Amino acid sequence: MVKKQTIHPAKHLTGGVEPPGDKSISHRYAMLAALAEGTSELRHFAAAADCRSTLDCMKALGAEVKVDKDTVRVTGRGPGGLKGSWRALDAGNSGTTMRLLTGILAAQDFTTKLTGDASLQKRPMKRVMSPLREMGADIRARDDNFAPLEIRGGRLRSIEYHMPVASAQVKSAVLLAGLFADGVTSVTEPARTRDHTELAVEEFGATLEKRGKTIRIHPTSGGHGRGKLQARSLDIPGDLSSAVFFIAAASLLPDSNLLIHNVGLNPTRTAILDVFASMGASVQIMSLRSAYGEIVGDLSVKGASLKGGVIEGEQIPLVIDELPMLAALGPYTEEGIEIRDAAELRVKESDRIAVLAENLRSLGATVDERPDGLRVEGRNAGRLRGAEIEPHGDHRIAMALAVAGNALDGESTVRGWRIVSSSYPEFADDLARLTDTITR
Ligand code: S3P
Repeated sequence: MVKKQTIHPAKHLTGGVEPPGDKSISHRYAMLAALAEGTSELRHFAAAADCRSTLDCMKALGAEVKVDKDTVRVTGRGPGGLKGSWRALDAGNSGTTMRLLTGILAAQDFTTKLTGDASLQKRPMKRVMSPLREMGADIRARDDNFAPLEIRGGRLRSIEYHMPVASAQVKSAVLLAGLFADGVTSVTEPARTRDHTELAVEEFGATLEKRGKTIRIHPTSGGHGRGKLQARSLDIPGDLSSAVFFIAAASLLPDSNLLIHNVGLNPTRTAILDVFASMGASVQIMSLRSAYGEIVGDLSVKGASLKGGVIEGEQIPLVIDELPMLAALGPYTEEGIEIRDAAELRVKESDRIAVLAENLRSLGATVDERPDGLRVEGRNAGRLRGAEIEPHGDHRIAMALAVAGNALDGESTVRGWRIVSSSYPEFADDLARLTDTITR
């Protein structure tokens, strides 16, 4: 993969594409398969380096992992079957790996060291440490917040946890720990977040109840009967968060006609489609079907003139990973894009508010950076120009700005392109195949 990616102007996006398997679901299936007894077959597993990190961690913890193209077979020995690793586990760039695994490791009868790359070592882990400590976990961290973590596993008690931040990763860490607790653990979210853990845990056989924003998980019985984790054979839907880059690109380029196949359309992820609809995008959902608790469909996208708008409040956690793309669309919209209530963006793979503001300004956009979001002025604020994009090691910023670059007159470059493999290694190839690039 190239270090620096050149982005050419494009006329339209046409044809069909299938995005790689959903990252969130792949992480969860891999972890649960390692806790189940027997061999699970996970088809269309995410190509993302982040999910490879999860597989490597589960392997180091004693699961057998075999990868054959995008099919992964994971053999576990039941919920008590993990074994300690003398080497520190490496979550790479993946917050989901680190936070979810911390929940599982807090309950094991061994000590684990868990670390990650430079970006991950800057991301807050106290948010999972606090509830897990309430459950009785012993977790040490640098400055009591950052990786490397040392997790001294042991017996956990069940708690009733009211989450201060709307985070699917925190919810999932507590629910996974709850599988091993001495009673029913409940988690209440301040706002809804993606529910893949709930669906996956049920799919693997554990017992869970949902009422409003509260989820109650029963400990796995380990042995027989209801509540036992069983190996499963599962298909993973395509990642809507990856598909969004194509939805955006096709919407921006007037004569586009794009079909996106096999996309996960879980209702806790599709708020982004409502945002696109409210901006006047032409996105049609076709052939809805269900797949192991998840919903899957195809999307047809045509070029459209985008209105822009404000994204705020309870919408934010539901479109959290799509905000870089929405912000990068801002200068092409009629009214601009304003993002509010999204301070969480500052603790993602980069400080996404600052990095978006910096890069959009270098393309010539007018941006007002705020503590909890940003306002990007629309197309009346002036024409954009090609620039050198610096994504600061953030895959979604790199892809979002590459899409914005497609609609410019001149060429742009994106530095540090390799980071794109965190979520979508084939992104540049897929985008190039669909775009009819032009030299102006
Ligand atoms: C994820 C949850 C979100 C999201 C991340 C994946 C998950 O993080 O940004 O890319 O798989 O649970 P938070 O839970 O920290 O908001």
